[in-house]
Amino acid sequence: MEQVVRPARALRGVLRVPSDRSITVRALLLGSVAEGLSRIRLPLDSEDTQAALECARQLGVPIERDDAPSPSELEVRGRGLRGLCGSTQPLFCNASGTTMRLLAGLLAGQRFDSVLDGAPQLRRRPMRRVTEPLRQMGANVTDAEGFPPITIRAATRPLHGLRYEMPIASAQVKSALLLAGLYADAPVEVIEPAPTRDHTERLLQACGVTVRCNVKEERAAVSLLPPTQPLHPLDITVPADFSSAAFFLVAAVLLPASELRLLDVGVNPTRTGLLDVLSEMGCAVRLEAQRNEGGEPVADVVVQPAELRAVEVRGAQIARMIDEFPIFAVAATQARGVSVVRDAQELRVKESNRLEGLAGELRKMGARIEPTADGFIVEGPTPLRGAVVDTLGDHRVAMALAVAGLLADGETTLVGAPCVSKTYPLFFHHLAQLVVREHA
Ligand code: S3P
Repeated sequence: MEQVVRPARALRGVLRVPSDRSITVRALLLGSVAEGLSRIRLPLDSEDTQAALECARQLGVPIERDDAPSPSELEVRGRGLRGLCGSTQPLFCNASGTTMRLLAGLLAGQRFDSVLDGAPQLRRRPMRRVTEPLRQMGANVTDAEGFPPITIRAATRPLHGLRYEMPIASAQVKSALLLAGLYADAPVEVIEPAPTRDHTERLLQACGVTVRCNVKEERAAVSLLPPTQPLHPLDITVPADFSSAAFFLVAAVLLPASELRLLDVGVNPTRTGLLDVLSEMGCAVRLEAQRNEGGEPVADVVVQPAELRAVEVRGAQIARMIDEFPIFAVAATQARGVSVVRDAQELRVKESNRLEGLAGELRKMGARIEPTADGFIVEGPTPLRGAVVDTLGDHRVAMALAVAGLLADGETTLVGAPCVSKTYPLFFHHLAQLVVREHA
């Protein structure tokens, strides 16, 4: 299905984007093995979180959600660490990499067999990064030549402890190993080449599990002690997703008459690399009403338009904005000078190849962007023109191209727009509410 985006003059108004996908999935999975009733307030309701919810139900966890169209609360009746039931059917993770990789960790030490499978898009994503270290913990886990499905055979004894130096900075791999560590007979320590999002650690701590984190220069060491007590249930309110907010934030920076306030945004420093990069580009985004909710920093984000200058992004910055490169690329097309992204080869194995694919689509709109082996180079500022572009079935490419369409001269047609439902089913609806087209 196609979506047409027309040029806009500004984004104006106040918006709470939907809640955080990473936190909702983690809370569902941890709530499932906690003992007692977990309440997840303002959960994200999207294809990815529905996949996690259905997998948890398939494992015997009763989950109630209040009213459609979008639930304001989920009640998860946790079954305890040993209370999940094996499923004879594969657990279908749809297109959610987070669900599959975290479940692989959570199920690796269970006393039943499991198969984790997903939609074709997920079947193309690498899984050896989790199956290999899980095997080092003694789990009987196999993948299909590095890809889904993942098959887990019942564990006959506790998993071993592990000290693992991750070759790539990945929160999903770290989280899978920490969750497997709940079923180990000795600590699990994960050393990250650069600190990644720490939502799993925060939620584990809220459940009463001992998790320690030591950040030294660019590396982080996270360790988990196997729990001796049942996990406490969670009672959390999920903040708005910074990665969803990022599309509106950048659009408001680039459209000269904008005035935008984004409410309740999760501003965990492991996620907000884009704010630092925008500040280096000459744009000050204000965080107001800063507070802590359910163990996560939250703020209202106030955005005003700015003229941007080019920037270089590399090293530890990459992990802190790993999901923001599609929208960063759009910002870079409007920045004065040559922007360069390095050390970001992981972008090749996201929902699409975000180096080659994104560059190809933005070039159709007149952008001067070249992919490299581990990033991309963008020359700006470049006027964009409307075109027919392909979302590549990637929600973040779709939303970034929609923002490019607001800046372009003429109409932009997005082919494959419904993929935004992975994390943001109402994206185009919210965009239409904020867009100002005429001179006000
Ligand atoms: C996520 C971690 C990141 C990110 C993904 C969500 C998570 O992936 O790109 O969208 O919830 O842990 P990696 O761990 O593969 O970097």
